[in-house]
Amino acid sequence: MVLPLSVIPHAPREGEPANAIKQSAETLALLAQRRSSKVMHLAEPAPTSAELDALIELAGRVPDHGKLGPWRFVVFEGEARVRAGEALAQVIAGDEGVDEGRLAHTRALLQRAPACVMVVSSASPHKKVPEWEQQLSSGAACFALLLAAHAMGYGGCWLTEWPAYDARARAALGLAEHERIAGIVYLGTPTEGATERVRADVSSRISRF
Ligand SMILES: Cc1cc2nc3c(=O)[nH]c(=O)nc-3n(C[C@H](O)[C@H](O)[C@H](O)COP(=O)(O)O)c2cc1C
Repeated sequence: MVLPLSVIPHAPREGEPANAIKQSAETLALLAQRRSSKVMHLAEPAPTSAELDALIELAGRVPDHGKLGPWRFVVFEGEARVRAGEALAQVIAGDEGVDEGRLAHTRALLQRAPACVMVVSSASPHKKVPEWEQQLSSGAACFALLLAAHAMGYGGCWLTEWPAYDARARAALGLAEHERIAGIVYLGTPTEGATERVRADVSSRISRF
């Protein structure tokens, strides 16, 4: 079941009281137990356009040094996923060793899930805020989007894959030269449940200075 948009409270306006603390057992449980879906297990229904906008609004509330908003979100719904796949296929069409199978896979890349949100890091040199911190904020936005989608009742996964590392593909998806793909968050309704994966042993990665 998907929660209605009406359960999301209005974000406070600048200067209004905001929650420095918000006890939430459900948030802790979500963090303790959440899992990404496999992209091939994401089917209709996708979040509606209004739900996507609301989820992105939540994702945009991530910590952001300097209030720069060093990210932007590109939504691929419906036929836009076909156009994006075609643009990516054209990028590689002339490359050595690219056969019809690879082209077909590329055309279908964004059609694996019914909705996709590309989180673009628009980090740029700034006198006070290092680009690294701007990029970290984009990563946080990806995770916030995923968590918000889980909390609303959708499955999702955060992938980068080759388009993130191919300047031609980035340009084909509309990115400026200085921009990078922090992730494409694929969203939909899981057709299969998830099982837990192997996790990094966090306790061995904790030290006290
Ligand atoms: C920045 C980033 C990029 C990722 N890109 C890919 C990818 O291209 N392909 C992939 O199979 N998993 C990728 N993953 C991993 C999945 O998003 C996910 O972490 C993994 O499947 C385990 O999911 P879970 O721990 O959320 O359940 C990426 C993760 C991150 C943080």
